[in-house]
Amino acid sequence: MAASLSTRRSAGEAVAHSKVAGLQARWSANALTRFVDPLPLLETVQPTGRRPTPDHSGAQLPFYKVVMSQFEAKLHRDLKPTRLWGYGARSPGPIFDTNSGQGLLVEWGNDLPAQHFLPIDHTIHGAEIHQPEVRTVVHLHGGKTPPASDGYPENWYAPGKSVVFHYPNHQDATMLWYHDHALGINRLNVLAGLLGIFFVRDGQEDSLKLPRGKYEVPLVIYDRSVDEDGQLVYPVSGHSESPWVPEFSGDAIVINGKIFPYLEVEPRRYRFRILNGSNGRLISLTFNTGQAWFPRFFQIGSDQGFLQSPVSVMRVRLSPAERADAVFDFSGYAGTDVFLRNDNLNVMKFRVAAKGSHDDSALPQTLRPIRRISEAEAVKTRSLTLVEVDDSSRGPITMLLNNAHWSMPVTEDPVLDSVEIWNLINLTGDDHPIHLHMVRFQILDRRAFDSSLYRATGQLKYLGAALAPAPEEMAWKDTIRADRGMVTRIIIPFEGFLGRYVWHCHNLEHEDNEMMRPFDVVPHPRRRR
Ligand code: C2O
Ligand code: CU
Repeated sequence: MAASLSTRRSAGEAVAHSKVAGLQARWSANALTRFVDPLPLLETVQPTGRRPTPDHSGAQLPFYKVVMSQFEAKLHRDLKPTRLWGYGARSPGPIFDTNSGQGLLVEWGNDLPAQHFLPIDHTIHGAEIHQPEVRTVVHLHGGKTPPASDGYPENWYAPGKSVVFHYPNHQDATMLWYHDHALGINRLNVLAGLLGIFFVRDGQEDSLKLPRGKYEVPLVIYDRSVDEDGQLVYPVSGHSESPWVPEFSGDAIVINGKIFPYLEVEPRRYRFRILNGSNGRLISLTFNTGQAWFPRFFQIGSDQGFLQSPVSVMRVRLSPAERADAVFDFSGYAGTDVFLRNDNLNVMKFRVAAKGSHDDSALPQTLRPIRRISEAEAVKTRSLTLVEVDDSSRGPITMLLNNAHWSMPVTEDPVLDSVEIWNLINLTGDDHPIHLHMVRFQILDRRAFDSSLYRATGQLKYLGAALAPAPEEMAWKDTIRADRGMVTRIIIPFEGFLGRYVWHCHNLEHEDNEMMRPFDVVPHPRRRR
C-alpha cells in the first residue's frame, strides 16, 4: 500500500504522518464547494518573430519562445495557491494553434529551480543520484517530428538552458499535446504541471463548418491530490531508498487547471477537444442532464484526427494520453444545468443560457475518408510482450516491454516507408496505454489468449474470436489501450523520418520504471550505402 506524502514534508516525516493519517479520515479535494470557478479558457501563444529553417533552405519559420518555470496558481477558489511547474507560467501551458504544413520553431527554455519538489527515486534508470535533480525535455505527443526535435528522453537539459526544436507539422488536423519526457522523472515533471495542447488545423477541417471560436472548447483533464494547504500530494512506496509507486490516482479531477469548474454555454452545438493528461487514470466521461439516462453525443475524432463519420456515443473513455474530439448539442437544455461526469462524479457544470445566437455550425456525415491499411501491406509482424516483474513482498517492482530494459540494444528497427504489424501481448494484470512516437497507426483487433500457458511455454493460444475495435477507435491513433489478457494488434506505416524514437506505456509511473524502449527507423537495405 502506498503511503501518502505531502510533498512539503521530508520522507521521514511523511512516514510518521501516514501512520496518523491512517486513523483519521483523510481530507480530500472532493469536499470543496462545487462549480464556483469559471473554466479557464487556455490562452494561445503567439510567435515572437521568424527565424530561418534548420535545413538552411533560406525559408523563414514562425518562431516561438516558451519558458518552463515554477509559480503558484489557485486550483480552486477555496484552496491556497498551489506550487506548480508549467510552460509560460501556466499549467496547462499555452495553446499552440498551428496549420498543417506550416513548420515552426519553438525555443523551450528551462527556468525551473535546481531542486525538485516531488520525490525522486534515484534507483530508477536515468535518475541516479549523480544526475542533476531537475532535468527536462519537451516531447510533442503525436507530432511527426524529426528525431533531433522529438524530445528523446536522454536529451534532457538542466535549469538555465534552452533548446530550439523544429516542428514541420506535415500531418492531418488534430489535437496534439506537449509534455515533459525526461528519463526517470517524467511522471513527476508532468504531475508538477508540464503539459499543454497543440492544435494542427487544415483545409479539410475548415471546410466542415464545425463549431469554432468560442464554441470550440479544449478540456485538458487529469487527476491530482492536494493537501489542505493546496499543495500537490504524490504517494511514496514506504521504502525510503526507492519511493517509486506503480500507480498514481488522484482524489480530484482538474479541468484546464481548476477543480470543479463551470462554463456558461449557449443552447447550441459545442465542439470539445478532450485530452486525458492523467499519469495513470482512465477517464470515462458522460453528460449528465439530471435524467436517468445519459444523452448521446457525437465523437468525431481521436488522437490523430477525424473519424470517417461521426459516431453516436453516450460515453467517451480515454486512457492516459488519448484524445477525443466530440460534439455535444445543448439546444434541448436551454435554461438548465448539464454536468460533465467522470465515472460517478459530476466534475464540471455547464450553465446553459435560456437563449443563444443562431447556430450555423454543421455536423457532416463524412469528416475525412480513412483508408484502412490491409494486413497484406505489412512486411513484418513483431510479437511484443508487456510484462510485470513482481517481488512477492512489494508487488510490481518494474514493468517491461518484451522483457528488455531501456539500456539494452535496440530490437525494433522498422524500415522507413514500410508497414508493420505489432502484436502487443499483455501478460500483466493491468491495461496499458501504448504509444509510439512519430507515427500514426490503426488498430486491427484485440483477442483474448491463455496468458499462463504463454508464460509457461511461450505458446500463444487464443481463447476466443478477435474483437473488432470500437467504432470510435477507427480513426488514426497514436496511443492504444492494450487490455490485460489480450493480444492487441496494430498496423503501422513507418512514414516520416529516419532515426531514433521511443515507444512506451503512457502510464507515466510505468514508463519511468522501464516500460519504455527505443526504436530505430532505418533506411531500406537496398537504398543503404
Ligand atoms: Cu505522450 Cu512518449 O509520450
Ligand atoms: Cu503500463
